[in-house]
Amino acid sequence: MKVIDFTVRSNEQLNYQNNLIKVAPADNEALPDMFPGQFVQILVDNSPNIFLRRPISINFVDKEKNEMWLLIQQIGEGTRKICETQAGETMNIIFPLGNSFTIPQQNGKFLLVGGGVGTAPMLFLGKKLSEKGFSPDFLLGGRSERDILQQTDFEKYGTVYCTTEDGSFGEKGFVTHHSVLQNKKYDFIYTCGPKPMMVAVAKYAHENGIGCEVSLENLMACGFGACLCCIEKTTRGNLCSCTEGPVFNINELTWID
Ligand code: FES
Repeated sequence: MKVIDFTVRSNEQLNYQNNLIKVAPADNEALPDMFPGQFVQILVDNSPNIFLRRPISINFVDKEKNEMWLLIQQIGEGTRKICETQAGETMNIIFPLGNSFTIPQQNGKFLLVGGGVGTAPMLFLGKKLSEKGFSPDFLLGGRSERDILQQTDFEKYGTVYCTTEDGSFGEKGFVTHHSVLQNKKYDFIYTCGPKPMMVAVAKYAHENGIGCEVSLENLMACGFGACLCCIEKTTRGNLCSCTEGPVFNINELTWID
């Protein structure tokens, strides 16, 4: 874990509430190894009312450019301030934090399911799977077309399927209604997004005998196991999702009766 200043290389508003911010270490030090599912804690600068850093998933790491991508949803004053950061400005970041998704050793059919901004870690995971020679499928869900993010980036690493609740893009409905789940047989599913979506995906995986990992988006404050506000009940007891997670196998969770 490191605490360093990054320089913002670019800040692109992707839709009405999400920005893609690309950052690089301010002193050009090489980025350490990072893994899909891990997250960072960003200091909200020039905001005396905001004491806590904001936890953000690692969206992508471009080793060649020594660049980390952060997909940020503006859901409060802190994340709004972060999204106001301009290229060239400095961002203080603690990273990398948490555990990561399991990268399989053998090829198989892998489905990566993301809802809304929960698609963020799936791009980095898709890249890692693709580097191993695997070709994952992505299933992206949102309320409407404008909520489907980075589709062309996902298409570099596998086949992309989409659902929207209003039917404005892809198939209409929730991710668990998509026809690809009837038409293809998967060996493993990874998911991140709103809890009801992840629970539905976990139940689908369980009922169909498919292994599944979820990346929890529990409320976080400290990000390193001190405040206990991110506790998740598991088969191993109550665990901090910031240090023992955010990624859990569904067999460890108590979501499935
Ligand atoms: Fe403080 Fe997990 S966020 S213990």
